[in-house]
Amino acid sequence: MRIAIYPGSFDPVTNGHLDIVKRGLQLFDRVIVAVSENSLKSPYFSFSERVGFLEEAVKGMQGVCVEHFSGLLANYMRAKKAAAVIRGLRAVSDFEYEFQMALMNRYQDAGFETVFLMPDARYTYLSSSLVREVSRLGGTVQGLVPGGVEKALRKKRSLLPPARH
Ligand code: PNS
Repeated sequence: MRIAIYPGSFDPVTNGHLDIVKRGLQLFDRVIVAVSENSLKSPYFSFSERVGFLEEAVKGMQGVCVEHFSGLLANYMRAKKAAAVIRGLRAVSDFEYEFQMALMNRYQDAGFETVFLMPDARYTYLSSSLVREVSRLGGTVQGLVPGGVEKALRKKRSLLPPARH
């Protein structure tokens, strides 16, 4: 059984993340989508909301489960006996950060392997942060995030003070 971990903040999950999960399933028997509990950023959605969106989004995907972890990813990976960690690579701009993380993780554990997967070209410029910003300012994110996330973003926006023009 080849297990891969797909870690992240998922604030919120996008269709680009789900595209990576599906690609991961072609290579591994099981993909654990792991939401980090100790993100440094102040999240837009609460931890339980982020986990809930993911659970809903991967429902029916055979071989995928949603978990969460705290502390070092290298320790979590070892505990899960995972063969690799999956990270999505969209553009060259992602590369430096990802390269640093991959090598720092390998420094923690020499057996740590990171597999980079490219999402469908449709999602190359899609990120959780852009989704948050566009939605907050009243733009559309239809087709870029799962339905439940879109609904939650709309609800969240309705609670915010209106943007000034
Ligand atoms: O979606 P993100 O925010 O790019 O995900 C980053 C994440 C959660 C994968 C990374 O911050 C992480 O692995 N955090 C766990 C703590 C850890 O091991 N940090 C050292 C990474 S080199």
